[in-house]
Amino acid sequence: MSIQDKSFFKRLNARLPWLKIVLFASAILIVVLDLVGLTISKIGDPSEKALIAPMLIHVKATERPERILTDKKLVALTFDDGPSSETTPGLLELLYEKNVPATFFMLGARASANPDIVRQAKELGNEIASHTYSHQNLIRITAGAVAEDIAATNAVFSSIIGETPALTRPPYGNINDNVRKYVGTPMILWSVDTLDWKYKTTESIMSYTRSEIYDGAIILMHDIHPTSVAAVPTLIDELRSDGYEFVTVSELATLRGINLTSGVAYYSFRP
Ligand code: NI
Repeated sequence: MSIQDKSFFKRLNARLPWLKIVLFASAILIVVLDLVGLTISKIGDPSEKALIAPMLIHVKATERPERILTDKKLVALTFDDGPSSETTPGLLELLYEKNVPATFFMLGARASANPDIVRQAKELGNEIASHTYSHQNLIRITAGAVAEDIAATNAVFSSIIGETPALTRPPYGNINDNVRKYVGTPMILWSVDTLDWKYKTTESIMSYTRSEIYDGAIILMHDIHPTSVAAVPTLIDELRSDGYEFVTVSELATLRGINLTSGVAYYSFRP
């Protein structure tokens, strides 16, 4: 070993504390990055969220199996306050798997933030309807503000799906003369209130549904709650076993021979 080499190792030795720290920190960093990488790959795993988007995007409403509606009691399942990127895609997937079309009363603001979900919902044969732009209580604002809200909502849906919603559900079901005059579409309320936003269990949702259901009913739920989405398979299976078939609100009105009128409120469509 030459003198030069010795001095090299001396210098190296003098710096060893630094090297130790750097090597140790690097090792920690590698472990952390690996863990983060594992977590990311787990979140994006095909068995998790990835299943939803690619599968549904290529499905056309026309490819759904035909629903047999003759000799069936009919019911319309409706979802308010979405779409939500957290809960709505999963709901769309399970509705598709059950061959159930639903009616989504969407908020313009949320639709604007989630245009792909709106398009996907429509493409899968669901009905896209309006729940106003930002869930204002329309009976507490001026006629001009009602008109503004409706115009803003229509603009959002026009730009996303190329058409304005044919139906509106005023927030809280609140309607006055201004609303009737400026809403510009038929108004759809509900006959089965599942209170899913309040009592967040499948059993409670089913309990309200069982006590209020009848042929031609409109069921109110909210797709922004995971607990509501979780109740949907049970609700569909039980009502089907009781002889019900699911239709959109517009289908239900048509099948019951009702010509929907702008500014008029409808709660259900009995035979
Ligand atoms: Ni609402």
